[in-house]
Amino acid sequence: MRIACLGGGPAGLYFAISAKLRDPGDDIHVFERNRAGETFGWGVVFSDQTMANLTANDGESAEAMRREFAHWDDIQVEVEGRSVTSSGHGFIGIGRKRLLEILDQRAEALGVVRHHEVPFDADLDRFADFDLIVAADGINSAIRTANSKCLDVTLDRRTNKFCWLGTTRLFDAFAFLFEKTPAGWIWAHAYRFDETHSTFIVECSPETWHGLGLDRMEQAESIALCEKIFARQLRGHALLSNAHHLRGSAAWINFTRVVCGQWSFDNVVLLGDAAHTAHFSIGSGTKLALEDAIALADAIDRRGIVQPSILRQALDDYQALRQVEVFKIQNSARNSTEWFEAVDRYINFELPQFAYALMTRSQRVSHENLRLRDRAWLADIERWFADRAGCGSATAQPMFTHFRLRDLTLANRIVVPAMLTYSADAEGRVTPFHHVHSGARALGGAGLVITETVAVAPEGRATPACPGLWNDDQVDGWREIVSFAHQHSKARMCAQLGHAGPRGGCRVPDNAEGLDRPLAHGWPLIAASAFPWRAGGAVPKAVDRDNLVDIRTQFVAATLRADRAGFDMVELHAGHGSLLASFISPALNHRTDDLGGSLENRLRFVTDVVRSVRAAWPAGKPLAVRISATDWLGERGTTPEDAVQIARALSDAGADLIDVSAGETSPDARPVYGRMFQTPLADRIRNEAGVPVIAVGNIVDADQANSVVTSGRADLVALGRPHLIDPAWTLRAAAIAGEETQFVPQPYATGYDQARRLARQSTGVQ
Ligand SMILES: Cc1cc2nc3c(=O)[nH]c(=O)nc-3n(C[C@H](O)[C@H](O)[C@H](O)COP(=O)(O)OP(=O)(O)OC[C@H]3O[C@@H](n4cnc5c(N)ncnc54)[C@H](O)[C@@H]3O)c2cc1C
Ligand SMILES: Cc1cc2nc3c(=O)[nH]c(=O)nc-3n(C[C@H](O)[C@H](O)[C@H](O)COP(=O)(O)O)c2cc1C
Repeated sequence: MRIACLGGGPAGLYFAISAKLRDPGDDIHVFERNRAGETFGWGVVFSDQTMANLTANDGESAEAMRREFAHWDDIQVEVEGRSVTSSGHGFIGIGRKRLLEILDQRAEALGVVRHHEVPFDADLDRFADFDLIVAADGINSAIRTANSKCLDVTLDRRTNKFCWLGTTRLFDAFAFLFEKTPAGWIWAHAYRFDETHSTFIVECSPETWHGLGLDRMEQAESIALCEKIFARQLRGHALLSNAHHLRGSAAWINFTRVVCGQWSFDNVVLLGDAAHTAHFSIGSGTKLALEDAIALADAIDRRGIVQPSILRQALDDYQALRQVEVFKIQNSARNSTEWFEAVDRYINFELPQFAYALMTRSQRVSHENLRLRDRAWLADIERWFADRAGCGSATAQPMFTHFRLRDLTLANRIVVPAMLTYSADAEGRVTPFHHVHSGARALGGAGLVITETVAVAPEGRATPACPGLWNDDQVDGWREIVSFAHQHSKARMCAQLGHAGPRGGCRVPDNAEGLDRPLAHGWPLIAASAFPWRAGGAVPKAVDRDNLVDIRTQFVAATLRADRAGFDMVELHAGHGSLLASFISPALNHRTDDLGGSLENRLRFVTDVVRSVRAAWPAGKPLAVRISATDWLGERGTTPEDAVQIARALSDAGADLIDVSAGETSPDARPVYGRMFQTPLADRIRNEAGVPVIAVGNIVDADQANSVVTSGRADLVALGRPHLIDPAWTLRAAAIAGEETQFVPQPYATGYDQARRLARQSTGVQ
C-alpha cells in the first residue's frame, strides 16, 4: 500500500510507524513543512495508561520515550503565594521536540520516507498515486478546512487567551499558579518535562489580556510582563519562547475546539488535531493523536486489502472505534475549558475548596478518585467541609453534612425531588399510595423530601390523578404524611406548589402513552399567552388581570394550607412549562403588555407571587423556587445567562433556594444529556448569583453527590429516578460510607449494620 502522511507531527509520524510495523511492505511517505527537529511548543503530558498503550503498540519507541520522561505525582494549586498540594496523580512529561526526534528516528529505522520542508495545500492532486492520504496536519488543517462541508466540521473558538512558554525553573509538581493583577486574574499551567525545562502556559480572560495591554505588546514585552507577574514562582528564572517567528501579540492564541461528524472522505482520513482537539488544560491532545494512529493502523491491518471498498470499511471502522473515546475526552476537555473561562466564579472560594474544584473541573476525576490518589489530603478536605458546615469533624463525607436555611436544618445534602405519582383521588386528595411512597422515602434517609407537584387550583393539575391543596379537605392527608415523617425520620418535608398552566388537563401516562396527551374532555387551560405547549395541543387562554389576582391568591392559600399541614418548606414550581414558567420563558410568553418582552417584564408576575407567598409563609421556614435554567432552545428560549438574573430576581423577592432544573418548556428543546448534565447550570447560579441551589439531573451515585457538594457546585443534590427504585438510597450510601452520624430508624438498625459490615468487608477496611 502507498500511504502519504500529510504532516509530520505526533499523529503523522506515529501512524507511519504503526502502519510499517503491521505491514513492512507498505510504502509510506511523511510530508512536513518544517525542517527536521524544528517544532513549536515545549512539553506534553501522558498518563500511565497512555504509556501502556504505546508500549503494546511499539515497545521500542515507548522505551526510548520512557528514558526521557520526567515523572511527577503532585498537583500544586497556588493562589497569590498560598498553596495546597495533593499527591498520587501520576503524570509523565516529555519535551515535544524530543518526542518528535524519537518518532522521526524510529520512522527512519523502519523505512518510512520523510520529506521535510515540503509544504502542501488542500490540492491533493499531487498525491493522486497514493492509495491512502492521511491528513495529520494539525489544528489548522488545510485539508479539513477545504472539505469542511463533507466532514461536517464544527469549530468553537473559545474566549480565553493563552501563550505557550517555557522556563528553566523546574517545578516539582504539576502547578496551577494564580496571580491577581489590576486587570484581573492570570494563571499559569506549569510542569517539568525534562532535566532542564518546564512548560509554562500562561492563560487569562480576554478582559485581563486587554487590560494588561498584552494585545498591544510585542512578544518580548509580554514575556517580560509575565515574568514580573509570576516573579514569586519563577524565582529569578526567565520565561522562554520558541515561537520567535510570531510578531506582535500573535503568540497569544484562542483555543479552538474542533469536532468532525465525519473523519474521512474518498481515500483521505483525518488524524489527531486535524480531526478533533482537546483543551491543553487536560493534556490529552498528543495522547489522542497517538491513539488515533494506533487505531487507524489496526483498522487497515484488520481489513488487509487495498481495494477502495475495503479501504472505506477500514476508515469507517477507525472512526467508529475512536469516536466514543474522543467524545468522552472532548466532553471532559470542554468542562475544563469552561472552568478556566469562569475562574472569577471560584477564585474567592477558600483555598481547599478552590483546589478541589480545580481538580474535579473536568468531571473525569471524582471524589473517590481523589481518595484513591491521596487519602490524607481528601480526609483534610472532608474535615474542612464538615467544619464549615458546622458539624465539627464528626461527619466523614460532605453529602452527610448539615445544611441550614433560615430555622431549618437538614440532616444531609440529599433531596428527593418532586416526582408525579398519578395516585390522587378524584378530589385531589392523597391516597394510601402517597402515605407509603412519601413515608418510605422519609425513612430512607434523605435530608429533604419534596412532594410531587401539588396543584393550587383544580385546573392547575397536570392530570385528574394529581393531588392539590386548593381546599381544606386536602390538608389532613398531607398532615398525616408530614407528621409521620417528623415522628419516624429526620427528613424535612417540602410541598412543591404549582399550577400546570398550559401543560394541564392531560391523561395519566401509561405504558402505551407518554406525557402531555390531552384528556378527551379536559378543563379550560390558562397560560401567559394563548399558545399551546405542544403544537396541535389545547390552546390555553392568556391570563388577564383578574386571573392574575386569582392565581396569586391561590398560591398564597395553598401556602397557608401547607403550613397547616406542617410542611417545613414550600417550593414553587416555576419550571417545566408550568403556568409560572410560561411567563418566564420567551418560548411561551408572547405578551405585549408589561408582563411580556424583556426578562424583567417576564419575571414581574412570578416575583410578585414569590413575594406574596413569602409574606404568608412563616419567617423561620425557607422558600424554594424550581426553575428551568435553560429551555435548551438556544437564543429562542431562556439561556443560562438569563437563569443567573432569574435566580437573583427570585432571591430578591424572597426565595432562599433555587432548585435548578432545565427544559420541558418546549417539545422542540434539544437537551445535551450526560451524567450530571444540569449541574453546570446550578453551579453558575450558585456562584454567580450567590444563591443556594439544588442540583438535579442524572446524578446517580454517592461519588457524584460528594463531588458536586464538595466542589461548591451546589448546596444540595436531588436524585429523582434513583429514589424511585430505591427509597433508602441515602441510608444505603451512608452504610457503605460507614457513616455514624446519620439517623437510622430503629426497626431498620440491624439492616443498616449488616450493610455497613458488608461494605467494610468488600473494601477490606476493618
Ligand atoms: C499550548 C498547548 C499545550 C499543549 N499541551 C499538551 C500537553 O500537555 N499534552 C498533550 O498531549 N498535548 C498537548 N497539546 C496538544 C498537542 O500539541 C497536539 O494535540 C498534538 O501535537 C497533536 O498532534 P498532531 O500530529 O495531530 O498535530 P501537530 O502536532 O500540530 O502536527 C501537525 C504537523 O503538520 C504540519 N503541517 C501542518 N500544515 C502543513 C502544511 N500545510 N504543509 C506541511 N506541513 C504541515 C505541522 O508543521 C506539524 O508538524 C498542547 C497544545 C497546545 C497548543
Ligand atoms: C415520573 C417523573 C415525574 C416527575 N414529576 C415532577 C414534578 O411533579 N415536578 C417537578 O418539578 N419535576 C418533576 N419531575 C422531574 C424530577 O423532579 C427530576 O428533575 C428529573 O427526574 C431529573 O432528575 P433525575 O435524573 O435524578 O431523575 C418528574 C420526573 C419524572 C421522571
